[in-house]
Amino acid sequence: MQMREGMIPSISRKEIDEMVAGLAREIERDFEGKELVMICPLKGSVLFMADLSRKIKLPQVIDFVYVTSPKGESCRIVKDISVDIQGKHVLIIEEIIDAGRTLSFLKARINASYPATLKIVTLLDKPALRELPLNPDYVGRTIEDRFVIGYGMDSEEIGRNYGDIYNFTQ
Ligand code: IMP
Ligand code: MG
Repeated sequence: MQMREGMIPSISRKEIDEMVAGLAREIERDFEGKELVMICPLKGSVLFMADLSRKIKLPQVIDFVYVTSPKGESCRIVKDISVDIQGKHVLIIEEIIDAGRTLSFLKARINASYPATLKIVTLLDKPALRELPLNPDYVGRTIEDRFVIGYGMDSEEIGRNYGDIYNFTQ
């Protein structure tokens, strides 16, 4: 991987692994004896989903949804979920929450299909600029309002494949 100008190491692969393992343990404890439907909003959450789903030793179904939320425009579903979630225990796997617009929209979409429960896990939370009231149920780490890339997160598609997380200023 090539270091780019403006990239400052923030969270190492080892710290990410520990955060993911801790979240998996919490979720396993809370959902003991139940089956989960793990929903991954594309594209930023794919690496987190891949790691978390393997660490959660519970029966599970995975699915993907793609919601775009261009600045200043309303959210739109590009690819909807494709499994039946009625009466199921649904967990949304998000990599980072900022204003909360994307997740508020997604929550409403999921709730419209009557899950038994709906919880949100996020690796990173940036509550400073929250526009909509949204409290994730599981948080890996709360961070300041800084733009980050790596471990699925991008700046104009750059950085998704990086193993570690970096602060990024252009
Ligand atoms: P929200 O609707 O503002 O909460 O936006 C959440 C989405 O914006 C996340 O799922 C990410 O895709 C993207 N996002 C928010 N903050 C960052 C960041 O610091 N780096 C990369 N993507 C981000
Ligand atoms: Mg995302």
